[in-house]
Amino acid sequence: MSVYYALGLGLGTHNRHQQWLDSFYPTPLLSPSADLVAACLSVLPADASSQPLDKTQCEQLAGVLAEIDSPEAKRQAAIARQIASSGRPGVFVLLRDNSGPKTVPEAYLKLHLLSHRLVKPHQTALEGIFGVLPNIAWTSQGPIDLAELPERQWQARLAGQVLSVDSVDKFPKMTDYVVPTGVRIADTARVRLGAYIGEGTTIMHEGFVNFNAGTLGISMVEGRISSGVVVGEGSDLGGGCSTMGTLSGGGNIVISVGQKSLIGANAGIGIPLGDRCTVESGLYITAGTKLALLDDNNQLVKHLKARELAGMSDLLFRRNSLTGAVECKTNKSAVALNQALHINQ
Ligand SMILES: CC(C)(COP(=O)(O)OP(=O)(O)OC[C@H]1O[C@@H](n2cnc3c(N)ncnc32)[C@H](O)[C@@H]1OP(=O)(O)O)[C@@H](O)C(=O)NCCC(=O)NCCS
Repeated sequence: MSVYYALGLGLGTHNRHQQWLDSFYPTPLLSPSADLVAACLSVLPADASSQPLDKTQCEQLAGVLAEIDSPEAKRQAAIARQIASSGRPGVFVLLRDNSGPKTVPEAYLKLHLLSHRLVKPHQTALEGIFGVLPNIAWTSQGPIDLAELPERQWQARLAGQVLSVDSVDKFPKMTDYVVPTGVRIADTARVRLGAYIGEGTTIMHEGFVNFNAGTLGISMVEGRISSGVVVGEGSDLGGGCSTMGTLSGGGNIVISVGQKSLIGANAGIGIPLGDRCTVESGLYITAGTKLALLDDNNQLVKHLKARELAGMSDLLFRRNSLTGAVECKTNKSAVALNQALHINQ
């Protein structure tokens, strides 16, 4: 077993002051083998953790990695060779443990691990990532430092071109770095790098997935998956629905959705749901929502707060359209996703 947490060899983008704006790892490694790491450290400083690479270092890396007899090392050797011949700024990151990222290349490696499905949301420490990542213009010419943007736009115009700014954000869109297998994403701008998108997930135009959040398998996502929220296999997020994050006063319960649950269109949850739950379209359940628990004959069992039902399975939440009271009863029909909609090939 490897004693190292992760390794990334790739390309980065600098601003004019040689500060990293982003980095791209074609094949990030979780738990790289000890001999692969030893080979890298034989040509880099022994304490290398987040290291710019020049052409010579890339060529040396390619040489030592090619001598190791494993597909993993051969792949990294090929990457090092390609970086050397590209003349672009290379970057090497070695994470010795799973602590919060300290540099831009480290933060990007962790986000790559999530979107490459090498780790699931919450499995990699991301404390401090907002402070580490710079706010950047994501443009048709790649990432650009905001201080350098006006000049770059002007230079583009002088050359008869338009430099298009797609977003101004700390996180780029995931699909510019990785498109995981078996997914459909109608509007790629709505999925940030660091999202974990399970095989068989479809994200429609209204769907959104933040970093350190996502779906574990087949899902139809037409609502918002906030940072930290994980949606289980077979669950469906209806159009415009909301899953509450833990930032901005959203409380401290980490929200998740179990398997085969349905959050209706324009509904929302501020508590975790278990398996086979349904939230009626338009109903927002917060942790403090007081609701009437009903038996199968629609008779009141007792009143309670939604947080007391956190994570429980087979529940149907609805707002009684005659009384306005929020009710909870046993969910008789688990959601059956339309199979034809979920073949993403
Ligand atoms: C809550 C929901 C699941 C109930 O659907 P259902 O289980 O099929 O229930 P029905 O509509 O057949 O209604 C069953 C009974 O409950 C009643 N009922 C349904 N919702 C009610 C409400 N909010 N208040 C009072 N009564 C209600 C119905 O009138 C019906 O009464 P009846 O037995 O006297 O005929 C459904 O309304 C819903 O919101 N689904 C979400 C769909 C969605 O948004 N999908 C995503 C698309 S993007």
